[in-house]
Amino acid sequence: MRIVLVGPPGAGKGTQAQYLAKNLSIPHISTGDLFRSNISQGTALGRKAQEYTSSGRLVPDEVTIAMAKDRLEEADAAEGFLLDGFPRNLGQAEALDAYLRDKEVTLDGVLDLEVPEDEVVKRIAGRRLCRKDGAHVYHVSYNPPKTEGVCDVCGGELYQRDDDTEDKVRVRLEVYHSETEPIIDYYKAQDLVVTISALGTVDEVTRRAMEALGAAE
Ligand code: AP5
Ligand code: ZN
Repeated sequence: MRIVLVGPPGAGKGTQAQYLAKNLSIPHISTGDLFRSNISQGTALGRKAQEYTSSGRLVPDEVTIAMAKDRLEEADAAEGFLLDGFPRNLGQAEALDAYLRDKEVTLDGVLDLEVPEDEVVKRIAGRRLCRKDGAHVYHVSYNPPKTEGVCDVCGGELYQRDDDTEDKVRVRLEVYHSETEPIIDYYKAQDLVVTISALGTVDEVTRRAMEALGAAE
């Protein structure tokens, strides 16, 4: 399956992507994770991205689209993928469409995670990420690791993102409303959008998502 995941910051895209990608046997491609790993490795791409990610603004399209395409090439788009955090504006959505047309494949669905803003703020405030693998996501109260500060999966140290402060979350939410929400209408016009509530336990949301995608076991 070829799926795009959308939703505000803190909706649980990364958390759900981990389980959905595993259940559906497709690679999880997160532009946020790719930026964070380039930044921590100090690559040229990471240096370009950092001023944007750390202030909550979008990284310019030319950088983001090229990086996403490279990663899609590596994954082999025809074999399926779960995109998390890309596309994030109309320019990126159009670039993805052009890329998929070129490969003669189409998207199967766009899963839209809906969550109230006060919940987003609580989720982000307690989020902790694994230094070894940013796809390992925890929450200090909702989804705590077995040992405080240590990743259950790989033993990596857990840390808090530099863009998870209240003022930067506000910027990210504004960017989401003004730049990312319009892609939901763009995909609705293609009849691809399924919207689900992202409230409830992680397992409940995964079940809801699998059902909405027509992939329930
Ligand atoms: P990115 O990393 O994509 O950040 P985001 O969209 O703001 O999303 P988050 O990672 O904050 O949230 P999430 O929905 O993945 O939630 P999570 O699963 O972690 O992007 C970061 C930055 O990179 C951007 O600001 C931008 O600068 C740049 N960037 C990335 N892509 C770009 C693009 N395409 N173009 C331009 N720039 C780009 O969950 C949140 C917390 O809630 C966790 O602690 C989790 O444990 C907890 N949680 C999850 N589900 C539940 C549940 N059901 N119940 C209780 N708690 C839960
Ligand atoms: Zn880990």
